[in-house]
Amino acid sequence: MTTAAQMRDKFAVVTGASTGIGAAVAERLAAAGMHLVLVARGADKLDKAAERLTRRHGVTVRTVPLDLATADAPTRLARTLADQGIEVEVLVNNAGVSSRGPVIDGDPARFRSLIDVNVTALTELTALLMPAMVARGRGAVVTIASTGAYMPAPYLAVYAATKAYVVSFTRALWAETRGTGVRVVAVSPGPTRTPMNTRATRSPETVADTVFRALSGNGPAVIDGRANALIAFLFGRVLPTRVGLAVARRIMARGGVQQDTVPA
Ligand SMILES: NC(=O)c1ccc[n+]([C@@H]2O[C@H](COP(=O)([O-])OP(=O)(O)OC[C@H]3O[C@@H](n4cnc5c(N)ncnc54)[C@H](OP(=O)(O)O)[C@@H]3O)[C@@H](O)[C@H]2O)c1
Repeated sequence: MTTAAQMRDKFAVVTGASTGIGAAVAERLAAAGMHLVLVARGADKLDKAAERLTRRHGVTVRTVPLDLATADAPTRLARTLADQGIEVEVLVNNAGVSSRGPVIDGDPARFRSLIDVNVTALTELTALLMPAMVARGRGAVVTIASTGAYMPAPYLAVYAATKAYVVSFTRALWAETRGTGVRVVAVSPGPTRTPMNTRATRSPETVADTVFRALSGNGPAVIDGRANALIAFLFGRVLPTRVGLAVARRIMARGGVQQDTVPA
């Protein structure tokens, strides 16, 4: 559990913080008095987000433009933080990309890039930044997964599989680090209105509230919203796999729940 008092005036690193859920989480943490390190590829958007957060909340905001799909990006970020003397209290592994369509029509290089962002960078950043938290006996690591983690998703196969990894990894990490004072939690949004998913109706601010509440909770995994939790429970635990897959395939083939965002 990480309390609001513990977070105030400390630094949070938020990946994918320039738009969507990451931007909303950064805003929620700034409102709680946290200083921020914002990470994404686009420097302009990051600078605008930083300027807005500083103006609204009076916190210090640093930006690190970085492509997390590149092999040395997590190490470079960790080095930059160390060079600037930043002690990370909260790490929010939010950056993620999605790819829609049948696997057999997909570009293998894009799948690699998606896995590099959603899985490899998240894992490496956690492994790089968490030991210092454990040594201090406090801090938090949040991973942003998806309700897609709880069931295989035809036509979003690679994306959903990466999110299943995120939930599995986070749950195991939670168990490994119990009693260290460091909070570990996977937060799974359902469809949320962001540049990744412009047709959804749930707001990223609502997801950010869930992330904020999850910081002071205890369990290893949280699903944003009751309807999303029910759907994940139905598909993940109740329906026989073949039935769940048949239903999911029909839904996704008709247009599905998420749009296509892949790294350029
Ligand atoms: N929206 C949904 O319906 C939904 C549902 C479930 C889970 N999620 C998850 O929530 C998280 C945020 O999604 P979102 O909907 O807010 O997406 P989004 O609006 O598309 O934002 C993605 C963020 O990640 C950054 N990013 C993308 N590729 C990157 C890379 N290679 N290196 C560094 N940064 C990168 C983007 O900035 P740049 O492009 O400038 O790099 C942006 O800041 C993701 O993990 C996603 O899987 C979303």
